[in-house]
Amino acid sequence: MTDVVPPTALSEIKLRLLCQDDIDSVKVLCGDWFPIEYPDSWYHDITSNKKFFSLAATFKGGIVGMIVAEIKGRTKVHKEDGDILASSFPVDTQVAYILSLGVVKEFRKHGIGSLLLDSLKEHISTTAQDHCKAIYLHVLTTNLTAIHFYENRDFKQHHYLPYYYSIRGVLKDGFTYVLISAGQLKPMFHSTEDLPASTESPAQLPAVVQHLVQEWHRVQQNHVKDRTLSVLPARHLNLSVADFYAKPVSALYKVQAMCNICTYIHS
Ligand code: COA
Repeated sequence: MTDVVPPTALSEIKLRLLCQDDIDSVKVLCGDWFPIEYPDSWYHDITSNKKFFSLAATFKGGIVGMIVAEIKGRTKVHKEDGDILASSFPVDTQVAYILSLGVVKEFRKHGIGSLLLDSLKEHISTTAQDHCKAIYLHVLTTNLTAIHFYENRDFKQHHYLPYYYSIRGVLKDGFTYVLISAGQLKPMFHSTEDLPASTESPAQLPAVVQHLVQEWHRVQQNHVKDRTLSVLPARHLNLSVADFYAKPVSALYKVQAMCNICTYIHS
């Protein structure tokens, strides 16, 4: 597009929905941004099927960023992410899945990614209103820029997905990230009977966290020999009760992620 991006580029960005005429440009952009090859039908779908919210950010008429998301019923969530919401949520609860978010390299760090994400949130709040309780996405574990971007915007790591992607025939690991408000946090690790049933009382939570961390270490030492554990980010295991007090919801999610991995490996 252009090598010289003015510092004020964000003020000149326009937003519009993608249409079929954009398919060729979008293919080129996705080829630059993502190591995954999408079939032609995918490009056709995201530019014409009304179930997708496909928004382009343009600069002087050219597409410099886009977000593609699908707002869908909780029963349509990917099987591996079926526990994003507690089962107690009504069946008509909705979630939004981000299929794609990208910005042309020269235009990054100008606020365009944030603008697109905020536009999705705005769209959700006006169309799905109170029915949409979470936004989720998948990301390669090696895509640290995107991971920081989402973490800095309150997305929490929810699942570790070994061998989730096939990139030119090589299997790569992924994460599920979820944006969900604290009030909607699901009860976790229901297979351990002696945990408090509710996590609503802040006073209860340190004990829950300690219990789960102990459980995690027990399982890891005694039973788990699976190679997938060796690539777990070390920070998952560095959780103290102090962390919990500093960032309760974040700590809770980290513990939940550990336990979900235990469950995954034993199932
Ligand atoms: N000066 C300096 N920094 C700025 C800035 C400015 N004028 N405007 C924004 N920034 C900072 C933001 O604060 C943010 O940093 P933070 O996370 O520490 O707050 C950072 O730049 C990026 O934010 P933003 O500019 O809104 O996002 P972006 O346009 O760079 O897009 C991605 C972010 C992830 C979409 C982009 O890196 C990308 O396209 N990556 C490749 C595709 C990809 O991996 N997508 C995700 C797949 S799941």
